[in-house]
Amino acid sequence: TWTSGNIIEDQVALIREKVGDKQVLCALSGGVDSAVAAALVHKAIGDQLTCVFVDHGLLRSGEREQVEKDYVAATGIRLITVDAEEQFLGHLAGVTDPEQKRKIIGREFIRTFEAAARELDAERHIEFLVQGTLYPDVVESGGGTGTANIKSHHNVGGLPDDLQFALIEPLRTLFKDEVRALGAELGLPEAMVQRHPFPGPGLAIRIIGAVDRDRLDILRSADLIAREELTEAGLDRDVWQFPVVLLADVRSVGVQGDGRTYGHPVVLRPVSSEDAMTADWSRLPYDVIAKISNRITNEVREVNRVVLDVTSKPPGTIEWE
Ligand code: XMP
Repeated sequence: TWTSGNIIEDQVALIREKVGDKQVLCALSGGVDSAVAAALVHKAIGDQLTCVFVDHGLLRSGEREQVEKDYVAATGIRLITVDAEEQFLGHLAGVTDPEQKRKIIGREFIRTFEAAARELDAERHIEFLVQGTLYPDVVESGGGTGTANIKSHHNVGGLPDDLQFALIEPLRTLFKDEVRALGAELGLPEAMVQRHPFPGPGLAIRIIGAVDRDRLDILRSADLIAREELTEAGLDRDVWQFPVVLLADVRSVGVQGDGRTYGHPVVLRPVSSEDAMTADWSRLPYDVIAKISNRITNEVREVNRVVLDVTSKPPGTIEWE
């Protein structure tokens, strides 16, 4: 019978046998899958595992700290954080096309991870790479969907020949809810285990227009408020994802405090879904939406208007880019 305990025991034994005394590397994204996969491998082989976390500067508020502090405290994993914000923002400067943004971020991610892997490999020869591949990822091999895109950012199939590793994929037979149960059993932080899906290109594809640090900070503040209020209302499990989108090149007139403003709108995009292939806009209670709207316009100076996206998928996608 399936229990998280059994799976952990089985996997720990399998991983130990496969790895022996060799060294292992894992890229953490801040998401559930890589976090659980790494925790499982760490339980099996301890400090033979090193994790790398690339901070591309496109993360949401608190996400880096969650990995660096809470996750490390919960697991004892050895973690290397690569501070790559300047590099990513430099390459993204002035870029507005969504696919161009993705291409740049994917390329820089691989470049950064490769450099980190090479450095580590020189210090302790690395034989294996952990990936948080789930059963649905195995079954659904490609196609032009967002889900296929997910893989292109966090898998490192783009590594050069002299830096190829054998894969360890301990979640290959599992579904998302099983992975969450496993994460809870392994003692990972609740916020991480229950985190909504978040795209690899991060907030870059939630800024409509060019990406820069000021715009990211505006979006981060608005996004944090939306997440706080959703949690406060006890509705985290009622929505699949809740993108907040900054229309950075749009301005509208408003009145805030004593004067006329000319600020930016943000879009709330809470959606309900089973698998992200189709989705419907979430019917969040009006008072929750009102609270989010009031707080954002009060607390984020540059935003003077909050709008709600009431489009299903199809025809709209979940993300705006
Ligand atoms: P869309 O916007 O296509 O999104 O309805 C479907 C799901 O995929 C996520 N998404 C991405 N994830 N890299 C990712 O890792 C991407 O480029 C990307 N684009 C969309 C989106 O958040 C949703 O869960």
